Amino acid sequence: MTGSLHLAQPMASVSRGPVVATSRLIPSSASRIKLSICSSSLCGLPSCLKCIRSAPLVSHFFFPYERRSICVAKSGFSTVSVPKFFVSDPEQLKSAKEDIIEILRTTFCHPIMVRLGWHDAGTYDKNKEEWPQRGGANGSLRFEVELKHGANAGLVNALKLLQPIKDKYSGVTYADLFQLASATAIEEAGGPKIPMKYGRVDVSGPEQCPEEGRLPDAGPPSPAGHLRDVFYRMGLNDKEIVALSGAHTLGRSRPERSGWGKPETKYTKDGPGAPGGQSWTVQWLKFDNSYFKDIKERKDEDLLVLPTDAVLFEDPSFKIYAEKYAEDQEAFFQDYAEAHAKLSNLGAKFDPPQGFSLGEVPVPERFVAANYSSEKRELSESMKQKIRAEYEALGGSPDKPLPSNYFLNIIIVIGVLALLTSLLGN
Ligand code: HEM
Repeated sequence: MTGSLHLAQPMASVSRGPVVATSRLIPSSASRIKLSICSSSLCGLPSCLKCIRSAPLVSHFFFPYERRSICVAKSGFSTVSVPKFFVSDPEQLKSAKEDIIEILRTTFCHPIMVRLGWHDAGTYDKNKEEWPQRGGANGSLRFEVELKHGANAGLVNALKLLQPIKDKYSGVTYADLFQLASATAIEEAGGPKIPMKYGRVDVSGPEQCPEEGRLPDAGPPSPAGHLRDVFYRMGLNDKEIVALSGAHTLGRSRPERSGWGKPETKYTKDGPGAPGGQSWTVQWLKFDNSYFKDIKERKDEDLLVLPTDAVLFEDPSFKIYAEKYAEDQEAFFQDYAEAHAKLSNLGAKFDPPQGFSLGEVPVPERFVAANYSSEKRELSESMKQKIRAEYEALGGSPDKPLPSNYFLNIIIVIGVLALLTSLLGN
């Protein structure tokens, strides 16, 4: 759209019309179309038309938009074609994704990227409303204070790999970069496509990092209760706990980092990537449902089963999903993709507020007039009295719709038909 096109549109198209990210029609300064709610339902129409307006049929034909009562301020539009940049730029995100794929293919860092995204998002506390105190996917994990949390041991290596990409693309936030890297790693490892969205705002300083202790322990006294405490706090459910645990189909545990796992096994001693650690699966760079098969069977001493993994086949509610995923990889992929996308959005503040997906035009926000009204709009007492008087003169009241004037409708339709007939006759 352009500014002039926009102004030529009937008002209804404005009321439906989204304030679209990539739209060329964007206000030059505030990036928002400034709409004002008319102070009167008459919306500037000449008063001689008032009685005609009271006839519903005629109103429908001739004034289809007036009930929306929205006027558009003409000021502030740019007619220049400029793309709208949100906190992250879609084009830069796409290029960053290409660079991430390159790193994944050369360093085999898929698992640690997934863990990085999960640990940034997994601090979310649904009981806290305020951002960023509520934690979640906000890029806080880039700060040393949070990287030093016990649960994050080793994640500095993931950050080191991503930092050059961050430096290259100033129009990509850390919060988006972490989640992009994680979702891309899953896809590159053969997993499902994750329905991701982007536009996460970063926290600005280390003082905004969450306190230590929000992520799960691998060996708590009561693993099922602990998993529920932690994941329910994030707003996730049993199905999502089990599906997300399936991410351990990738990667290894290293005793020098988490304290869990063997220093090396026959599956890890030669890498790929830095050798060592104990994996949950034989092909620990391939995303499939082997995690569920392997922890169910527990036949191989070289494969890891943490207490929080084992409980997925012990707890009656978790077991339903774990059994299903061991049998049915497609079901696992579907539930995993949904749960991963949900995890990646936890606690995030998006710009635009609904986020956007790559390769698609940003989904426009549903039009909510109040969003575009900068101040409270109360009709003045005198205006209310004026409107009331107008209604009452026509036999109605503001609380009661005006009576339909069908007789007037018929007269007007006959008049219009007569006019048309005489015009055609000539
Ligand atoms: C259910 C509770 C969870 C516990 C207790 C847990 C615990 C652990 C531990 C102890 C490690 C080893 C870290 C190391 O020594 O380097 C690890 C690694 C990993 N975790 Fe989890 N995790 C959990 C959930 C998740 C979730 C939800 C995801 C992703 C959605 C995930 C993804 C990973 C990945 C990919 C690795 C491998 C990292 C690497 O190889 O560098 N984990 N996890």
